[in-house]
Amino acid sequence: SDLLVLHGPNLNLLGSREPEIYGATTLADINAQLTHMAQEAALSIDTLQSNAEYVLIDRIHAARLDGTRMILINPGAFTHTSVALRDALTGVALPFLEVHLSNVHAREPFRQHSYLSDVAKGVICGLGVHSYYLAMQYAITTLKA
Ligand code: DQA
Repeated sequence: SDLLVLHGPNLNLLGSREPEIYGATTLADINAQLTHMAQEAALSIDTLQSNAEYVLIDRIHAARLDGTRMILINPGAFTHTSVALRDALTGVALPFLEVHLSNVHAREPFRQHSYLSDVAKGVICGLGVHSYYLAMQYAITTLKA
């Protein structure tokens, strides 16, 4: 598909997980809205959530050959730990947007470093579900141009 949306560990718990930080919207709701936005723009979209690093990495590798044009990724805690995820994204050389619901810069010090940000096309954080939707809006604008 044109767009690949990846959600990392624990994001399957959205809606019930620390709602004061991550909000009340479920991952299914977010995916539904992203899918709606893509379809309105006549772009195809695939979404995947995994708690397993290798599943995300394997999906990124597959994106190299399946026509994916841009990746939106909320890497969850792998943001702050995973050289492997970074290497997968640079390895396939597809443009990607790093997305976070919370403002990682306003939280614990260990969340303030990302292994992905310097190789991302852009980073959006702190706007709750709007972080995803604004990233999608950018992706649509770019891919339709
Ligand atoms: C997160 C921020 C990360 O630090 C955290 O580990 C998450 C979610 C966010 O969307 O705000 O799991 O990526």
